[in-house]
Amino acid sequence: MRVLDRLLFGKAPLQDFFGNPRFELVEGDATDILKLIEAMQGASAVVHLAGLVGDPACAVDESFTRHANVFATRLIKKAAQSLGVRRFVFASSCSVYGINPAEASETSELNPVSLYARTKVESEREFLPDADEDFCVTTLRFATVFGHSRRPRFDLVANLFTAQAVNDGRITLMGPSQWRPFVHVRDLARAIVAVLDADPERMRGQVFNVGDRRLNMTIGQLARLVQETVSRARRVEVVELPSKDLRNYAVSFEKIRRELGFEAETLMETGIDEIVAEFNKGTYGHYKDPIYSNLAMTKRALPAFRRGTAHLYEPVVEAAGPRSRDGLGNGAGPAAPHVEHVLDAGPEDRLVAGLGSAVVLL
Ligand SMILES: NC(=O)c1ccc[n+]([C@@H]2O[C@H](COP(=O)([O-])OP(=O)(O)OC[C@H]3O[C@@H](n4cnc5c(N)ncnc54)[C@H](O)[C@@H]3O)[C@@H](O)[C@H]2O)c1
Repeated sequence: MRVLDRLLFGKAPLQDFFGNPRFELVEGDATDILKLIEAMQGASAVVHLAGLVGDPACAVDESFTRHANVFATRLIKKAAQSLGVRRFVFASSCSVYGINPAEASETSELNPVSLYARTKVESEREFLPDADEDFCVTTLRFATVFGHSRRPRFDLVANLFTAQAVNDGRITLMGPSQWRPFVHVRDLARAIVAVLDADPERMRGQVFNVGDRRLNMTIGQLARLVQETVSRARRVEVVELPSKDLRNYAVSFEKIRRELGFEAETLMETGIDEIVAEFNKGTYGHYKDPIYSNLAMTKRALPAFRRGTAHLYEPVVEAAGPRSRDGLGNGAGPAAPHVEHVLDAGPEDRLVAGLGSAVVLL
């Protein structure tokens, strides 16, 4: 296995794998074509998980988010196809359902209510079934993850409630009646492996919600469950605060159960117990440490992104001035009409116009 990662959260979470001869790390950005080639050369399958993740982190800077989530996805797909990779799994999210009064299935209308979810919807469109018979893509819409991992996130609601209960004896509950689907991080990994092990023809162009009907619950039910579990060791109160998060969706996981026999092995109670045990062992620092927060780490990474891309994401009209006939630095004279079109397009398209040689490589 080869991992391409820009290491927003450092190398420490990968420490356990460095001695493994079947593991390689390519440190770099998924929008760097040379790193992509290095990472994908000879690969039989690509699992595309990289990106800025979560509504708050993605709301920090639209250019950064679209660069990391939409432009990167387009480039990764093209690179994989060009290198003859045959299997591709794209990590989408159940948050594409946004506000959905009925239980959402894979054919339900999408209703993204955040930039994060919109970048997932746009990325999914890249993978609509196309004519390339040698390229088999499966899209997985993950439920909200919980549970212990090598870089646990304490900005995910189940983990956050558990951390608050263990450390503060106080859960801050917002939007108690909102429905959410959950899935343990190990079960997500099992779902990816199940897709890669399945007959490619049955997986081609398929979209699966990844989760389990037993893990659909309201935020209020989740808070109660965490309270009951942690109350065995200490008193825990639940304090309700107003919510700005509009999402409300329960999800059907019937398709993945039927087609792949997939059901969660780890339910919420076990996931909560695991996090409590890790806190008791002293595995984690303070749960509010920035390393556990995608929002904090995205803010930290933003200045470097801005420094590196200011010339690409500058205002459109200014960028057009010195540009030449084809918009790529060739020829002289004012921009030709097709350049106007490029400049009217989204920021990734403008970036394609600006990158010239990298695009030719593909
Ligand atoms: N965690 C969830 O609840 C959840 C739910 C639904 C979908 N997902 C999806 O699953 C995937 C993984 O989520 P996660 O919670 O592990 O996220 P995470 O934030 O923990 O990890 C994302 C990783 O991507 C890397 N990365 C970011 N931009 C990159 C770039 N341009 N080039 C190379 N590497 C880059 C980061 O360094 C980080 O290691 C994401 O695509 C996410 O949208 C997650």
